[in-house]
Amino acid sequence: MSAKADRREEENGGTILSATGIKRVFGRGNAVVTALTDIHLVIPAGSMVALKGRSGSGKTTLLNILGTLDEPTEGLVFLRGREITGLSGAQRSALRRKEIGLVFQSFGLIPLMSAYENVEFGLRIAGTPANSNREAAERALERVGMRERMKHRPTELSGGEQQRVAIARAIAHEPALLIADEPTAELDSKMGLQIMRVFRDLVNRSGMTVVLTTHDPGIMELADYVIALEDGKIVSQTTHESPVV
Ligand SMILES: Nc1ncnc2c1ncn2[C@@H]1O[C@H](COP(=O)(O)OP(=O)(O)O)[C@@H](O)[C@H]1O
Ligand SMILES: [Mg+2]
Repeated sequence: MSAKADRREEENGGTILSATGIKRVFGRGNAVVTALTDIHLVIPAGSMVALKGRSGSGKTTLLNILGTLDEPTEGLVFLRGREITGLSGAQRSALRRKEIGLVFQSFGLIPLMSAYENVEFGLRIAGTPANSNREAAERALERVGMRERMKHRPTELSGGEQQRVAIARAIAHEPALLIADEPTAELDSKMGLQIMRVFRDLVNRSGMTVVLTTHDPGIMELADYVIALEDGKIVSQTTHESPVV
């Protein structure tokens, strides 16, 4: 991360992301679902945070709000000290293009493109100046250990390799925050662990902050902090003072 970004984090007391009083209600009338209530959280810069909880507990809803894909019904979210709730759709997508990377369970690669082309195309549609795209795409593939296989198409790669390419695509613009929803759900536990090591490495070596969801207890062990959700509420949270060891 740049020295400028580091300074900004220092100004915020080491916090990259925080949320207060988050509530998210879907639907209306008889069909109302309260997916999240009374969510307060603080995420330290340069950490790896895992959200856990059973299916339907609100993990995806919370990640979508933290990643600016969705807006809460109530409450505020701050990214690097700047309130991101209440931004327009265009402002939110501009913010994602600069500061946020997104990884999903289904890798979402374009089948007819090579690994390299997938990553480069991601930069192009984000409007990154073309002269730096080749270098940025190759650097991102290198960081996930996929540079040697960058000419391969997704069908020629294993699930774990495809997810690594998807991570490269998500980090090629060097976001400060990487959000990953069930990134290992479609992988066996060995490949899942490899993916987690990639995230761990991004945190340790680049100071990136990773927030992810998972069901897998083995994977949670690699996180610095674990936040447990139940029925849309945070029921336990390891903190700065009591990190996961
Ligand atoms: N777009 C939506 N419309 C209505 N209900 C939704 C929507 N998205 C999520 N929900 C509901 O919100 C709750 C939390 O869902 P979700 O965040 O997807 O949980 P998780 O990711 O932990 O499985 C569930 O009851 C789900 O049915
Ligand atoms: Mg989910």
